[in-house]
Amino acid sequence: KRVLVIHGPNINLTGTREQNVYGEINYEEINNIIKREASKLDIAVKIQQTNSEGEIINFIHSAQNNFDAIIINPAAYTHYSYAIMDAIGAVQIPAIEVHLSNIHSREEFRRKSVIASKCIGQISGFGPYSYVLALNAIKLLENSME
Ligand code: DQA
Repeated sequence: KRVLVIHGPNINLTGTREQNVYGEINYEEINNIIKREASKLDIAVKIQQTNSEGEIINFIHSAQNNFDAIIINPAAYTHYSYAIMDAIGAVQIPAIEVHLSNIHSREEFRRKSVIASKCIGQISGFGPYSYVLALNAIKLLENSME
């Protein structure tokens, strides 16, 4: 399986940004955790990060021909980007939404994801391990995801 991981805006600052919410593990370490788990599961993973909405949409479009699944942390766009929602709906490959923090235990505006309806499911609240759980979900669903 080939999986594209997309980190949205400000995720590159994880480790220094609001440590009480997002933890002390930094962006590079998160990616190392993802890469380590992927190789354990025999998944070829590519990781991309951008702070711009349009670029997330371009990543999703170009994933179409090159990947079997997308793991996406749309960050704040989660809560209001119909454009990203439509992009996920427009491509044929399945997506899993992930969050470092538990978006349901925070401010009211974070409880709503406009992205989730187009995803297989949402994993939220496990820090970097949200991505690890998503990789495992893809592995477990491997046969039904062909
Ligand atoms: C986040 C949660 C979002 O509400 C927030 O805007 C982020 C990160 C998370 O991973 O917990 O930037 O997606």
